[in-house]
Amino acid sequence: MAIERTFSMIKPDATKRNLTGAITKVFEDNGLRVVASKRVWMSKREAEGFYAVHKDRPFFGELVEGMTSGPTVVQVLEGEGAILKNREIMGATNPAQAAEGTIRKQFALSIGENSVHGSDAPETAAEEIAYWFSATEIVG
Ligand code: CMP
Repeated sequence: MAIERTFSMIKPDATKRNLTGAITKVFEDNGLRVVASKRVWMSKREAEGFYAVHKDRPFFGELVEGMTSGPTVVQVLEGEGAILKNREIMGATNPAQAAEGTIRKQFALSIGENSVHGSDAPETAAEEIAYWFSATEIVG
């Protein structure tokens, strides 16, 4: 399988509980490398822009409120089949449905406070990486 890059976020519910290192360790233990990382406090405008695809969903307001409630660690992860691998490592969006051993099973509080985000396809990975990082900030 090809080496890919995917976009990942450690969300405010997790950074507030001091889980940045614990979650990053799960990525590294599963063969993903952190090739870019920074801690940001998203503005409302940034959160609305990032999640624009969900703007008509009933949970959009709650989503933006959660993402602007504290720091987020935005990262680029690199590895073999990184996009699908990261989604497997994260587990289902709703932690109640997440498999044993996944990040969301271990750490997430609810569907809204689900600790991590990861790109779902190569196109979204490229868009999401470019939303937060310039090329010179990614060091493989
Ligand atoms: P994420 O993978 O970041 O993509 C969109 C986010 O919206 C998702 O994780 C959840 O945190 C959030 N979300 C999805 N469905 C719901 C819902 N029914 N109620 C609240 N938040 C949701």
